[in-house]
Amino acid sequence: MTRHLIAARDVEFAYSERLAAPVQALAGVSLSIEPGEHLAVVGSNGSGKSTLARHFNALLLPTAGTVLVDGRDTRHVLADPALRKQVRATVGMVFQNPDSQIVATIVREDVAFGPENLGVPRAEIERRVAEALAWTGMEAAALRPPHLLSAGQRQRVAIAGVLAMRPRAVIFDEATAMLDPAGRRSVMAILDRLHRAGVTVIQVTHHMDEAARADRVVLLHRGRVEADGPPGTVLVEPERLQRYGLDVPPTVAIARQVARAVPGFPARVLTVDELVQAVLERAASRAGLTTAHLTTPNGEAPRGGTPSGAAFNAAPWTATSPWLGGTGATGGAGRAPQGAYQAAGGGQPGERAPTSAEPHGGAPGGRRHLPDPVILVEDLARDYLPGTPLAHRALDGVSLVAGAGEVVAIIGPTGSGKSTLIQHFNGLLRPQRGRVRVAGIDLASPRADLRALRRRVGILFQRPEDQLFERFVGDEVAFGPYKYGLRGDALRQRVRWAMDVVGLDFDTFRDRPVFALSGGQRRKVALAGVLALRPEILVLDEPTAGLDPQSREELLAILAELREREGLTVVLVSHNLDEVARLADYAYVLAGGRVVLHGTPRSLFARPAALQALGLDVPPAAQVAHGLRAAGLPVPAGAIHPQEVAAAIIRLLTVPEEAHGRAGA
Ligand SMILES: Nc1ncnc2c1ncn2[C@@H]1O[C@H](COP(=O)(O)OP(=O)(O)OP(=O)(O)O)[C@@H](O)[C@H]1O
Ligand SMILES: [Mg+2]
Repeated sequence: MTRHLIAARDVEFAYSERLAAPVQALAGVSLSIEPGEHLAVVGSNGSGKSTLARHFNALLLPTAGTVLVDGRDTRHVLADPALRKQVRATVGMVFQNPDSQIVATIVREDVAFGPENLGVPRAEIERRVAEALAWTGMEAAALRPPHLLSAGQRQRVAIAGVLAMRPRAVIFDEATAMLDPAGRRSVMAILDRLHRAGVTVIQVTHHMDEAARADRVVLLHRGRVEADGPPGTVLVEPERLQRYGLDVPPTVAIARQVARAVPGFPARVLTVDELVQAVLERAASRAGLTTAHLTTPNGEAPRGGTPSGAAFNAAPWTATSPWLGGTGATGGAGRAPQGAYQAAGGGQPGERAPTSAEPHGGAPGGRRHLPDPVILVEDLARDYLPGTPLAHRALDGVSLVAGAGEVVAIIGPTGSGKSTLIQHFNGLLRPQRGRVRVAGIDLASPRADLRALRRRVGILFQRPEDQLFERFVGDEVAFGPYKYGLRGDALRQRVRWAMDVVGLDFDTFRDRPVFALSGGQRRKVALAGVLALRPEILVLDEPTAGLDPQSREELLAILAELREREGLTVVLVSHNLDEVARLADYAYVLAGGRVVLHGTPRSLFARPAALQALGLDVPPAAQVAHGLRAAGLPVPAGAIHPQEVAAAIIRLLTVPEEAHGRAGA
């Protein structure tokens, strides 16, 4: 019998420390993980994913049941510190926030920290550090301070720190949630390479497309395993997924819709490439062609196989392994941004791209004009640390407008200036150059009434869960409205409403200490706190990162409704172009502190190459549409939503051939 790498049997766990009433987080979990598996763990916020993951390396010990890591009962770590070290070295853990993991002030020292703790000899540590930095593509940053790196780079340093312990399994607990698409891709690339090298990968994620890449998906709900199987089984059952707060991958949604109208079309298609291929095959057989000449849409290697796969078949962690120092070692990681700017702007980061997607009415720089905008930004510039060697121009001639009741999206890679820009919207920053007018208040004026402004503009900053400061959830949400004079029943109603909007049950959560929440639940509290102010303008920086798919859906629906009913103006900062496609009336793309593209989501997504060049991810449905168009099929350029793309495919596969000539755009 082979020994499981990790085996959990009937594991129960209740949090009780510093709590009036214990919170049952795991209610009898049994599963085993074999060496070399790539396992995805999915489930709604609070379903127990992080709690379970922390049992796999003895950060938590079961209240009942057992966890065996490499055959050793984790409960014995209490009496045996050597075993604790051994377990932590066997199963490494990467968290959502790299900063919670980075301890040293120089990258190289940070990566050395783990093996030093394990008592590894100095020379060996050096070797491991070099190896781990090579794995994560961070060699060039070895001597730099981590805090000067981008979020994506810091996450790679955190991963290197785990790899330097040469674990047999690595757990990624939403390790990509806070990253932009380029950062997310580089982490996914590392994860794939680890898996190919035989390292066991356990990935907690809310992204169904990430889960679809695993060998096996475990679905948790209320501390129980509700499904456990290959992605092709677990992720294609819409009813079940929705029941547990999850989402159907957009490709599956499209395929199912097509399958209902086109007999024999496969309903369980997980990836963009597979879907495009399935359509091409059917279209070709209708036309009596073969698919041999048809190309895949985005040049991505099909799932499971990679062009350089052979190089990674050696046993992991051998010092002579072929990938060390080889050019393929860091493939893709970190390269996207540089290449991206060049492709888009033809030059240095920050250089203006030659065209915008939808130039408006002859104004200089193709600016968009609205008669009476609630937010008006003109030629805004901002330098950080001006006059020092570290001087950095964060914003450079940015102009944008948002009309009352509009949803305006600001998208762009890490470091493009998004957060700096929105800090001007409630007066946290004043314009150094240019103009900012919000809700009729001129921010350049020394007499600007900031208190009035902040009442009308609610901002949810990135990683808002770090800014919670009340002890109990209810107080945290009540803080803003209380400050502005709401009391008694009105206050209570307001708090109830805001918690309801974000899907936190008032009675369950109002007296729960803030520390006793899952990651996603904390984000919801922060969001409820901003909504409770009932602002006229709501500025949200990555509001759905870390939310489970259903909570994300609900939030998007609520925003749409508030805008519809109350004329709420929303500024949405997002890496998630799918969200932008769904919600935004207009979108501005920032890169290097400038607006490099702007237009309606439809007009932007009709040009996926320009977005991909900036390192942004085109929504899967738009990718499918684009892939089909690239192969010469008549799919309208404006199709970006799954239903639209499905409808286009259905027409393609059911309408008689000769009609396409007229129908095609
Ligand atoms: N430190 C804690 N003290 C008390 N209860 C906690 C603590 N951490 C989590 N919980 C509770 O345990 C349950 C499971 O939480 P867990 O963090 O495992 O969820 P999760 O699936 O990782 O959620 P998310 O997707 O939001 O990260 C939830 O009900 C949560 O509120
Ligand atoms: Mg979690």
